[in-house]
Amino acid sequence: MTVTTRAGLKQARGPVLGLPHLLQLRYHPISHNEFLRETYGELYRLKVFGVTMYVTAGADLAEQVLVNRDRTFANGPAWSHFIGPFFHRGIMLLDFDEHLHHRRILQHAFTNDALRRYHAVMAPHIRRNLAQLSDAWVDGGQPVRMHHVFKALTLDLALETFVGVDLTREEQEQVNKAFIAAVRAGTSVIRKPIPGGPWARGLKARAFLEDFFRSHLPTKRRDGGDDLFAQLCRAQSEDGDEFSDDDIVNHMIFLLMAAHDTTTITLSSMAYHLAKHPDWQEQARAESMAAGDLDYDGVLALDVLDRVMKESMRLCSPVPSLPRVAVRETSLDGYHIPSGAFVTVSPYMNHYLPELWPDPTRFDPDRFAPDRREDRSHRLAFEPFGAGVHKCIGMHFAGMQVRAIMHELLRGYRWSVPDDYVWPIDLTALPYPRDGVPVRLERL
Ligand code: HEM
Repeated sequence: MTVTTRAGLKQARGPVLGLPHLLQLRYHPISHNEFLRETYGELYRLKVFGVTMYVTAGADLAEQVLVNRDRTFANGPAWSHFIGPFFHRGIMLLDFDEHLHHRRILQHAFTNDALRRYHAVMAPHIRRNLAQLSDAWVDGGQPVRMHHVFKALTLDLALETFVGVDLTREEQEQVNKAFIAAVRAGTSVIRKPIPGGPWARGLKARAFLEDFFRSHLPTKRRDGGDDLFAQLCRAQSEDGDEFSDDDIVNHMIFLLMAAHDTTTITLSSMAYHLAKHPDWQEQARAESMAAGDLDYDGVLALDVLDRVMKESMRLCSPVPSLPRVAVRETSLDGYHIPSGAFVTVSPYMNHYLPELWPDPTRFDPDRFAPDRREDRSHRLAFEPFGAGVHKCIGMHFAGMQVRAIMHELLRGYRWSVPDDYVWPIDLTALPYPRDGVPVRLERL
């Protein structure tokens, strides 16, 4: 039965107990989301981690929330609830005029010229790293967990292209460890600083990372370089505004986080789907073999790989939910949203809506071919990078890095999984494959 408010707005309904539904969403996300949507409608309520969420389904509601024309929905209070202590003052946690001010400066670190320079630093490192995959893994060796390979590689690349500071192996390990601890803390279930627990380790890691970046700031400001850290030191808006030392430290820590797991899961999704669909793997390999060594523009022109990347991101959206908080009482699609309510948009679920994506569970990269363009069925049909003013600033960076890594992998190896293998995706926080995606590798 629909209950209405005094203003005639509908009250969103939802299951009384959130936990069983959360578990269902964890193990059967697509079918359970369909069930919730059919039972409660396009906007339903769910209790998650102690918070009542107003969950939206569909591209129209996603557009209203993310495009956010009248500035009703704020990022800061929503994301801070999950990752605030470890990534505070990162740009995604800022709102409205302050956010715009920072974004105008930050985008100077993501121009085409800057991306070309990042690619030039990255390409030889990728080639070297992938050429050296352990012999224990190839040609009849043990299956290799691709998710772990990508995670280690993207973290190494981040140190090189983002930080650009000469570090000993031991210092690199320390930074990597601190960074991993901060990310883990943000997604941990126990959200209290119990000594030795993930939350306490995350706070310690945050303090370590702050000290680390702060100690390298004076040299970075003086000597410059082609890395992201140096770009932030010299980035200026059109009005000549630049970042303070605190801003640079906060943005660096946030950027490392924003770039890392998202890129890793995109690569894992591509590796998984290409293993399940050897015909597509061969098509992508033929394209990469014919192309040879590539510069930045060449990598972006890989057409088969582009479609495979997009389809892999559609089937596994790296940031599955985008939370917001309503800063005033409002309504969505005739439903009442109280002031202070958490509202979420789910790119993950929206990418499976049959009205936008026919036969949505099928891996079909040609959906993105010019004669089909299913991603244009709605302005927000395809939303892995979000939309509106917070749309991912690293979208082109990510596209370049993912293609560059996959291009090298395709040229060096063929990989496979047993016919009946299905990857066990965990959606408790950002998606990750619980088994690391074990594949058999053959060196070419
Ligand atoms: C495949 C990889 C990636 C995916 C799928 C992804 C996805 C997203 C999404 C969905 C948002 C919007 C969050 C929201 O609206 O609440 C976002 C924001 C952001 N991303 Fe990415 N991202 C990726 C890679 C990167 C990389 C490589 C960087 C940096 C080099 C980056 C930096 C950022 C930043 C700074 C924001 C906040 C922008 C703002 O609030 O103005 N991302 N990303």
